[in-house]
Amino acid sequence: MSTGAYTTAYAASLADPSAFWGEAAKDIDWITPPTKVLDDSSPPFYRWFPDGTLNTCFNALDRHVAGGRADQVAMHYDSPVTGTKQSFTYAEALAHVRRLAGALSGAGVTKGDRVLIYMPMVPEAAFAMLACARIGAIHSVVFGGFAPAEVSARIDDARPKLILSASCGIEPGRVVAYKPFLDEGIARSEHKPDQVVVLQREQLLAPMGERDVDWADFISSAAADAGADCVEVAATDPLYILYTSGTTGKPKGIYRDNGGHAVALRWSMRNIYNVEPGETMFTASDVGWVVGHSYIVYAPLLTGATTILYEGKPVGTPDAGAFFRILHEYDAVTMFTAPTAFRAIKKEDPAGETMGAYDLSGFRTLFLAGERLDPDTYHWATDRLGKPVIDNWWQTETGWPIAANCVGLERLPIKAGSPSVAVPGYDVQVLDSFGDQLPAGTEGAIAIKLPLPPGTFPTLWNDDERYVSSYLSAYPGYYLTGDGGFIDDDGYIYVMGRTDDVLNIAGHRLSTGSIEAALAGHPAVAECAVIGVHDDFKGQLPRALVVVKAGIDVAADGERICQELVARVRSEVGAVASLRQVDIVAALPKTRSGKILRKTMREIADGHTPAVPATIEDASVLERLKPILHPQP
Ligand code: COA
Ligand code: AMP
Repeated sequence: MSTGAYTTAYAASLADPSAFWGEAAKDIDWITPPTKVLDDSSPPFYRWFPDGTLNTCFNALDRHVAGGRADQVAMHYDSPVTGTKQSFTYAEALAHVRRLAGALSGAGVTKGDRVLIYMPMVPEAAFAMLACARIGAIHSVVFGGFAPAEVSARIDDARPKLILSASCGIEPGRVVAYKPFLDEGIARSEHKPDQVVVLQREQLLAPMGERDVDWADFISSAAADAGADCVEVAATDPLYILYTSGTTGKPKGIYRDNGGHAVALRWSMRNIYNVEPGETMFTASDVGWVVGHSYIVYAPLLTGATTILYEGKPVGTPDAGAFFRILHEYDAVTMFTAPTAFRAIKKEDPAGETMGAYDLSGFRTLFLAGERLDPDTYHWATDRLGKPVIDNWWQTETGWPIAANCVGLERLPIKAGSPSVAVPGYDVQVLDSFGDQLPAGTEGAIAIKLPLPPGTFPTLWNDDERYVSSYLSAYPGYYLTGDGGFIDDDGYIYVMGRTDDVLNIAGHRLSTGSIEAALAGHPAVAECAVIGVHDDFKGQLPRALVVVKAGIDVAADGERICQELVARVRSEVGAVASLRQVDIVAALPKTRSGKILRKTMREIADGHTPAVPATIEDASVLERLKPILHPQP
């Protein structure tokens, strides 16, 4: 166990959080430097840097241009699916963002207004986020793989003044039309945006309606020509809302502030990811997920590093060497992606021959997060790359790692299956159902003692009550992560999976509730349940169990109904839900109070033998389901 820089930093961060984060805050340019670091006067609500003011876009772009990095590349755009490569220096990125920010201001968007961004992985998506930050507007990026029901839920909660979108995204083998999903999402929403700005991509032009404006026209206006200067915002003002999945169909609006976010992300680049100004980081994710927000857009730019926006897949665009070509071509020192991407590469190229074609001498570290890093994938990646592979555990809620091997501070020994130790700022504990701390090695609920460090969510958008009831009420004084696991004698954390019904499919977090709502909308469905079962490639896959209405002839119509249900989830929730397997069953197992026993079904499907809850209403229902959930060979 460490006795060095990590241990010192960790102890300091918990002993005196104000001193620790006050020091880190010096790496950010403030308009009014904060005189107070932590406002802990109204627990369980905490605010970091309460009297500081700044602008996040200024810190991400302007200060680097002024500070000598104008000609350094801020962002490489590499899109094998369109055959495009483009690099933007900091000066060029700033010019694009100033212009777009000017156009947004000209359209009446002001500080505190929400702007929804529904875009593929194109440079304009990153510019859009930064342009909002520049004028103090709050962006809410919706992942392009989501369909109308998810888009609509986000529109009605965020109530955006304006939406920035594109005509299409490009998935291997098909062009995905974004505009029909967006139009349908708006049609279903109570709230309507004033304008929808559409980036027309040559692969598919979108038909334009009355409220739609062509992106090219939008940024050719006089307001765009005038550009926009940075607007001063409070450190505690929201920078963005990013919706994430809970167990219900209503997504949670994770609210991120400006000050704590900038401080924490800048700190994480040096101390966790070991990336310095001028170096290049390649994060293969999507701007629609938190990993994309933090480590494609904000953290590298807040650092004065170079980021890479990659529109492609780990395999098939064109082959399993794609990531390594990028590392080589742009001299990236660090890569960050999800384990499932490496499982995809391993499946396609088990010997790792394609990576051998590239010079990776400048590449230092691979970081993996988003789902559990299984030891097989860890060993395969380590052996093939010959570089450290660092698992890190975090959530949309925290915005940056809770547990990691902080290689920038001190590289600790790696233990396969563990994302290593708690990151400075996070007092991670494993609790039993009474809220008592469990001894080392004993599995329980992973919780974090309040206050959470800067950069984590201070609350949910417009919903303090749900913030408290979802996260803080189980164990007063603690944030409930929703993950279960244990901590070993050396302080290494083992994250074994969600204790709730949240799904994690290919590193994508999805809600059982959303998929169930789509299924329940089918006229034949009386009742349904969705569970996430283990999958060697995607980590988990959803399975649906459906009870059909009385009078339906399952023998005659069952197969058709199942196909319609699969199609329905795809068109309502999105292709990313990856639902393939639907089983029609006679009944669902429930407790006497009517709660469906999803966890018990999930464990049976994964081949375990869980204890049957004493509160089960009718144990024979579960018995009859066993061969369906886990067929014996
Ligand atoms: N827009 C529209 N559709 C999308 C999409 C987007 N942005 N992203 C994914 N989809 C579609 C896919 O095309 C696929 O459709 P299909 O059913 O017609 O094949 C479906 O959603 C499922 O996507 P995905 O789960 O990504 O599976 P995949 O087989 O296409 O790719 C991986 C699997 C592992 C290659 C891919 O998930 C990946 O690279 N993941 C790791 C990186 C990552 O993004 N992690 C997120 C958090 S760090
Ligand atoms: P998201 O909010 O989409 O980032 O998903 C967060 C969830 O993904 C966590 O609550 C975990 O269940 C899972 N997760 C993320 N990273 C890891 C990791 N390194 N190890 C295990 N689980 C992880």
